Amino acid sequence: MRVLGIETTCDETAASVVGLSASGHGDILSNEVMSQIAEHAAYGGVVPEIAARAHVEVLDRLVERALRVADVKLKNLDGIAAAAGPGLIGGVIVGLTFGKALALATGKPFIAVNHLEAHALTARLTDGIEFPYLLLLVSGGHTQLVSVRGVGDYRRLGTTIDDAMGEAFDKVAKMLGLPYPGGPQVEKEAMQGDPLRFNFPRPMLRRPGADFSLSGLKTAVRLEAERIAPLRPIDIADICASFQAAVVDVIVDRVRGALRAFRAEDGHPTALVVAGGVAANGAIRRALTRFAGESGLRLIVPPVALCTDNGAMIAWTGIERLRLGMTDDLTFAARPRWPLDVNAERVHNGKA
Ligand code: KG4
Ligand code: ZN
Repeated sequence: MRVLGIETTCDETAASVVGLSASGHGDILSNEVMSQIAEHAAYGGVVPEIAARAHVEVLDRLVERALRVADVKLKNLDGIAAAAGPGLIGGVIVGLTFGKALALATGKPFIAVNHLEAHALTARLTDGIEFPYLLLLVSGGHTQLVSVRGVGDYRRLGTTIDDAMGEAFDKVAKMLGLPYPGGPQVEKEAMQGDPLRFNFPRPMLRRPGADFSLSGLKTAVRLEAERIAPLRPIDIADICASFQAAVVDVIVDRVRGALRAFRAEDGHPTALVVAGGVAANGAIRRALTRFAGESGLRLIVPPVALCTDNGAMIAWTGIERLRLGMTDDLTFAARPRWPLDVNAERVHNGKA
């Protein structure tokens, strides 16, 4: 089985062909990504209109390249999968329409993929783990703790009630004058800094449940930066280190809460999986490695290229759904919002 995956929900245009090996693992035959970071950098964040146009400009060539690298012809594919949301609607429409057009022209089955489900299932592509597992998804747009019980079967244990985790890193970077995207910059600065110099708040710490709140922490950082301005390089490093230390404490505490909620209903997770761009952060990885060790959990952090937005996770989700006979109609419309767990949707209006 071989499926083409198309991803255009944010600022990455991506196309990939993934095959299903005899052992049930995924085989990534190609994984082409074009980042638009340079086009958005001047604005300090993703500009939806620029993103949509950039997807239009490169998607056809990128899909062609993904097929060429995989050495697969369109007619030899078993299905075509495209992310149909959640995301920036202009970009989603570009990839979804392209995927549907390819499916129509070739007569292949079409799979409309939930971008969050794709992040959630990536650990099965890379490590072939079994359900159920606990997922921490932390990226620029998403912050969720989810019980992954099966394909299409998710229970959200926690989410953010304000900013997403990556967004908090990016905003802190911006207020310190560091370039976009801020996460990697904050981590780099933090390596030189003193995590104990500023005692920033740890919002939600030891609260019941597994929800996050990050805007208070972000505001505390801003107030401190304003108080001690003008900032010397050492101040910037210390602020980054102290901010990151607060984030690490919050993450471990919230994962602990989520694990408790997981066990109450879904038993023992086969693993703790971390996905999303923020999973690249070394301090967060180290803290979660320690936590997983203490909790008797297997920790899986897919390689960074598969944690951040990519086409392979879309293609893989296409395979997971296709082999269960879950295909979609070509009338499937793009969804700017598309929660993994519909039951959780009304609880918060934070980023789904
Ligand atoms: O998953 P991703 O590539 O895109 C989506 O948002 O879907 O995640 C990007 C986010 C950005 O906010 C970026 O600042 C953050 O991940 N990020 C990091 C690190 N590398 C990327 N945050 C903290 N530490 C890092 N090393
Ligand atoms: Zn993503």
